[in-house]
Amino acid sequence: MDAPAELIAILRKVERAAVLTGAGVSQESGLRTFRDSQEGLWAKYEPTDLATPEAFARDPKLVWDWYAWRSEAIKGARPNRGHYALAEMEAAIPNFSLITQNVDGLHRFAGSRNVLELHGNIQRVRCSVCGEFAENWDEEAEVTPACSKCGGLLRPHVVWFGEPLPEAILTAALVAVKECQVFFSIGTSGVVQPAASLARAAQTHGAIVVEINAESTPLTLQADYFFQGKSGEVLPDLVKEVWGKA
Ligand code: OAD
Ligand code: ZN
Repeated sequence: MDAPAELIAILRKVERAAVLTGAGVSQESGLRTFRDSQEGLWAKYEPTDLATPEAFARDPKLVWDWYAWRSEAIKGARPNRGHYALAEMEAAIPNFSLITQNVDGLHRFAGSRNVLELHGNIQRVRCSVCGEFAENWDEEAEVTPACSKCGGLLRPHVVWFGEPLPEAILTAALVAVKECQVFFSIGTSGVVQPAASLARAAQTHGAIVVEINAESTPLTLQADYFFQGKSGEVLPDLVKEVWGKA
């Protein structure tokens, strides 16, 4: 992949960068993206039917079991070359923020440090009543495991449709977007707010926007650079061309 010379020159000098990633970055780790069809016994459900407070109130066990199934799939997943390339990029750029919509924890697994998990983390579980995090729980529980502190139902520590994003993390992401000189949007369909508006916000603050995605998205026409392809291939090539590593 030959990145344009002016982009390479910009990246070699950049001091402050922000990256937004979506499920596409984990696709080459074998994890299905959000818009991929569901498989097996979950095929008959839409994620939007399960990842909501209403679904959990209606049938907590169904929602708990769906996340347990997804969590199992993630336990076997390993970071791919795209995750590692982003960790290299963080090491090469003085002020670097990695904002992710993914709940799979693979960025940290690959060595990224400043990771802002906008939508939570599927490996963490909290009480749906008092918010206490649980480190272990009774998997054989009748409905869903109960909070050891107040007896409330435990739930995955992920953002459901219609729920607010974690305030402190969103604030940190907005600061990173305002301050960055280059903003990357990688492996996201760019349809879920507020993540989908971060690229435009960066651009209005004067940042160059670089999109890397398997297909074009609503952002593509506004991006300053668009690389169509797999992030596990494009990112290592870009990091190698700019910083000579990966
Ligand atoms: P999507 O499934 O909506 O989009 C994934 C994007 O990645 C698509 O545009 C694919 O074309 C692209 N893609 C697939 N494989 C790729 C690869 N190997 N390399 C590069 N791009 C690839 O997933 P998200 O955009 O992450 O929110 O979805 C955003 C949010 O929608 C999710 O976080 C979730 C859902 O609502 C919540 O659960 C709150
Ligand atoms: Zn509780």
